[in-house]
Amino acid sequence: NSLHDFIRGLPKAELHLHIEGSLEPEMMFELAGKNGVSLPYASVEEVRAAYDFEDLQSFLNLYYAGAAVLQTEQDFFDLTHAYIQRARADHVCHVELFFDPQTHTERGIAIETVFSGIARALREAKAAYGFSGSMILCFLRHLSEESALSTLEAALPLRDAYADVWTGVGLDSAEVGNPPEKFAHVFTIAQAMGFRLVAHAGEEGPPAYIHSALDVLEVERIDHGVRAEEDPALMQRLKTSRIPLTVCPLSNLKLCVVKDLREHNLARMLRDGLCVTINSDDPAYFGGYMNANFIATADALQLSREELVQLARNSFEASFVSDAQKKIWY
Ligand code: HPA
Ligand code: ZN
Repeated sequence: NSLHDFIRGLPKAELHLHIEGSLEPEMMFELAGKNGVSLPYASVEEVRAAYDFEDLQSFLNLYYAGAAVLQTEQDFFDLTHAYIQRARADHVCHVELFFDPQTHTERGIAIETVFSGIARALREAKAAYGFSGSMILCFLRHLSEESALSTLEAALPLRDAYADVWTGVGLDSAEVGNPPEKFAHVFTIAQAMGFRLVAHAGEEGPPAYIHSALDVLEVERIDHGVRAEEDPALMQRLKTSRIPLTVCPLSNLKLCVVKDLREHNLARMLRDGLCVTINSDDPAYFGGYMNANFIATADALQLSREELVQLARNSFEASFVSDAQKKIWY
């Protein structure tokens, strides 16, 4: 299929990727054995069979359990290194990856262990093949704002040492019942410190959460945002401002945000002029990395080559790199 080859060869940026969500079952087993962590599965096949989700929470339960095998600096390096190899194979040349320090510090892992392993893989990839990457620290929204504040405080001593890679903060985990405004204070502090801001909103939560992510947290991108379509005024705002949406089609399918990819609103929003991007979210859990997401979406929604180029261009436009770097890429 020549359209699929066209997709594979397109240079692209990935802006919505949870590094813990790139933990493949094979590595999960390997690290569990090495670190003496017991898993409630007998085999890799059993893990994959358990990836049958009914909503975001049913996924998060397995995602947090799986992340418990990550313990050493080398584990975080290996995880990130493996993701980068897969990204490069998909012609991803830039990633702004999410990581969830609270998932690890709650288990007694030092926050520097997490930073160091991820950053080392990103830096090595930059030196070895010019692969570009940065890190967005995400707060878990099912936890308190005090916990988010202590996480930011614990990370601050690392800021200078990781200034080349740590560019932003975000907000993820269970959305409904945990609106953006719960984190107003910590986002105000992060903004004052010069961090770039993003938040998950409008995945399972209502359009009102997208409004408060923009108005209260003052985020520069919305992660997911697919429920924006229920609010015409919000759609107009996103279109005029070109606030990007980092959409994750296979994630939406696996978490039952949409019943069928053919019903996904990505093409409608793109054709309406919004800055929509395609991303993989948690590729080890949702059945595919970047090109799998592009190909499944292109097939289901009959995207044209021009629209696929626009999606790739949007991913660079929406990225947090300098304008000079953007000019080089598109
Ligand atoms: N939504 C919310 N939290 C998450 C996700 C997501 O898609 N992936 C990993 N944590
Ligand atoms: Zn996500």
